[in-house]
Amino acid sequence: MTDKKSFYITTPIYYPSGKLHIGSAYTTIACDVLARYKRLMGYDVFYLTGLDEHGQKIQDKAAEAGLEPQAYVDQMAAGVKDLWQLLDISYDKFIRTTDDYHEQVVGQIFERLLSQDDIYLGEYSGWYSVSDEEFFTESQLAEVFRDETGKVTGGIAPSGHEVEWVSEASYFLRLSKYADRLVAYYQEHPEFIQPAGRMNEMLKNFIEPGLEDLAVSRTTFTWGVPVPSDPKHVVYVWIDALVNYITALGYGQADSSQFDQFWPADVHMIGKDILRFHSIYWPIILMALDLPLPKRLVAHGWFVMKDGKMSKSKGNVVYPEMLVERYGLDPLRYYLMRSLPVGSDGTFTPEDYVGRINYELANDLGNLLNRTVAMINKYFDGQVPAYAGHVTAVDGLLTDFIAQEVAQYHEQMEAVDYPRALEAIWNIISRTNKYIDETAPWLLVKDESKVAELASSMSHLAASLRVVAHLIQPFMMATSQAIMEQLGMESVTSLSKLSLADLPKGLSVVKKGSPIFPRLEMEEEIGYIKAQMEAGKPQEETDWDPEKVSLTSSKPEIKFDSFDAVEIRVAQVKAVEKVEGSDKLLKFRLDAGDGTDRQILSGIAKYCPNEQELVGKKLQIVANLKPRKMMGLISQGMILSAEHEGVLTVLTVDDQVPNGSLIG
Ligand code: MSP
Repeated sequence: MTDKKSFYITTPIYYPSGKLHIGSAYTTIACDVLARYKRLMGYDVFYLTGLDEHGQKIQDKAAEAGLEPQAYVDQMAAGVKDLWQLLDISYDKFIRTTDDYHEQVVGQIFERLLSQDDIYLGEYSGWYSVSDEEFFTESQLAEVFRDETGKVTGGIAPSGHEVEWVSEASYFLRLSKYADRLVAYYQEHPEFIQPAGRMNEMLKNFIEPGLEDLAVSRTTFTWGVPVPSDPKHVVYVWIDALVNYITALGYGQADSSQFDQFWPADVHMIGKDILRFHSIYWPIILMALDLPLPKRLVAHGWFVMKDGKMSKSKGNVVYPEMLVERYGLDPLRYYLMRSLPVGSDGTFTPEDYVGRINYELANDLGNLLNRTVAMINKYFDGQVPAYAGHVTAVDGLLTDFIAQEVAQYHEQMEAVDYPRALEAIWNIISRTNKYIDETAPWLLVKDESKVAELASSMSHLAASLRVVAHLIQPFMMATSQAIMEQLGMESVTSLSKLSLADLPKGLSVVKKGSPIFPRLEMEEEIGYIKAQMEAGKPQEETDWDPEKVSLTSSKPEIKFDSFDAVEIRVAQVKAVEKVEGSDKLLKFRLDAGDGTDRQILSGIAKYCPNEQELVGKKLQIVANLKPRKMMGLISQGMILSAEHEGVLTVLTVDDQVPNGSLIG
C-alpha cells in the first residue's frame, strides 16, 4: 500500500469477434486519458482493460474462421494488444476471460450465489440476440415477425440484430429481490450514473416496470465457464464478463491486496448500449456478494457515420491503424476525444478529421509554438527571458485568463467531459495567439526602451506554451514532449505547478524547431480516408479474372467442377405472397420433391405484379445454396430467372417434369 490516493478505472472488455474500429479505440483512449491525468495528479492508478472471450457469438465466429475457439481468441487477443500498443494505452492489466484465475473465480461466485439461493434452477423460453448476447421479452423487441396465423416467428432487437427463440433449462439470478436496494442506492448516489439523465431511463424502462429474474446459464453451446456443480450449463457470458472487474484485482484469489486497495472502482467507462448491464445486473451481483458498488458509471454515446452505424457491408468502417499510419497517433487521440460530445453520439467525417488537424493542431497550436520559438531565437538568441511578473496590462489579462481556463480544465477532466477540457486548452492557445498580436514584439524590438516589455512578452509566451504542454499531456503525449523539448524543458511529470510564474529560469529554445503538425492537403487527404473506408468493404464472392473472359460471356470462365457443385432442381410453387415491409421480396413455398416444403425468398416482386399466377407452376431452383435470412425469414435456395434488358422472367419447366428432377 502507498499513501497516495488510489484510482481504479476500467474499459468494457471487448468481444474479440472482429477487428476493433475507432469506436472501441474511443473508449480505450478515453480511459487512458483519465488514467494519465490521475497519475499526473498524484494518484496511484490501476487501469484495467481486456477481452470478453466466451459466449455463443465467439464460438460461432471461431467456427466461421475454421478455428477452435481458444485458437481463435488467442489470435484476436494478440491483434488487440498490438492495437493498444500502437495507441500507447497505459493499461496496468489486460484481462482475458479465458484466463484460468478468472474462470475459477467465476465458478466460485456462481456456486456461492447458488448456495445463498440468489441463483436457482428454472426454465427459460424467450428471445435471444447472439450478437448482443442479450435476452429480450417480446415487448422489448424493435420489430416482430409473424406468420400467416399471427404467430410470432422472429424479431429484431433494439440494436438491429436478429433474435432467435431459445427454450432451455436455465439458472436464474433473483434480480427482483434486490430491486428496492438498487433504487435506494440510486437515490443516495445521484452521481452514480453519468450523464445523470440516464439514471431515470434505467428506472423508468427497466426497474419500475418490475425486474424479471435473469437467465444466467446456457446449455445449447459449450464455449464458456461450466457451472461447477452442473457442468452441462455454462455461465451466461455477461455474468462471466462483469465479474472481470474484480477477478482482475485478485478477488477470491490467494493475493487480494490489489482488490483491497482499488475496489470499489472509481470509474467504469462504458458505451450507452451496455449501461443496463452495468447499472442493474452488476450492482445486484455485487450486493449479493456483499461488496461495495462502483462509484461512477460513465456512459458515452457512439461514433457513427453520416450514413448511420459503422458496418463493413456499407464500406464506412474506420480503423485506427490507418489513421495512425498516415497522420500519427496524436491527431487520432485528439480527434476522438474532442469530437464526441458527452452523452450523445458524434459523427466521424473525413472532412472533420482533416479539418481539425489543419485548423486546430497545425494552425492554432503548431503556429503558436513556431512563432514563439522563432522570436525567442531572433530577439534573444534562443535564451528564454526570465519570467518577471506583469510588465504590461495585457500580461495581466493573459495570466488571469489562463488561470481561469486551467481551473475549468480540471473541472471538466473530473467530469470526464473531454470536449470541454480540450476547449479550455484551445481557449488558452487562441488567447495566447491573440496576445502576440496585442504585444506586437516586432514593433517592441525596434524601440530600445521597450526591451523589458519584449522580454516579458517572450517569457509569457513560453510560460503559456508550457502550461499548454502540461494540460495536453494526458491526450497527446508526444506533442506535449515535443513542445517541452523545443522550449528547452524537461518532459511533463506532474500537473501540480501550472501557473505562468512556474516557468523555470535559464531555458534555451531549440535553434530550429520543426513543425509539430504538418499541414495537410485537404482534398487529397479526405479522398484518401474515404478510399480506405471503401477498401474495407467485403468484395463480392467471385474469382473474377478479366483475362479469362470469353467473347460470349460476361463472367469469367469456371471449371466444370464449379458448375457441377450447383444443384438445380425442379420445384412447384405451392404458395406465394409478398413480404410485409419489402417492395422487392416474394416468399415462395415450394415442393422440390423431397417431401418437405421449402421456403425461398426472391427479390422479383416488381417483375411479378400478379404473383398468384405463379402458383402451380414448376420453376427451376438452386437447391443447395446455403440458407440465409432476409427480413428475418429464412430462405432455402434461389429461384432462377432470365434477364433481358432489365426485364426478368421466371424460368418455368414443362408440367410433365416431376418435382425434384435434377437439371444439369
Ligand atoms: N463484451 C461486452 C462488454 C462487457 S463489459 C463487462 C461488449 N463488447 S463490445 O465489444 O460489443 O462493445 C464494447 C464497447 O464498445 C461498448 O461500450 C460499446 O458501446 C463500444 N462501442 C462499440 N461501437 C462503438 C462506436 N461506434 N462508438 C463508440 N463506442 C462503441 O459489449
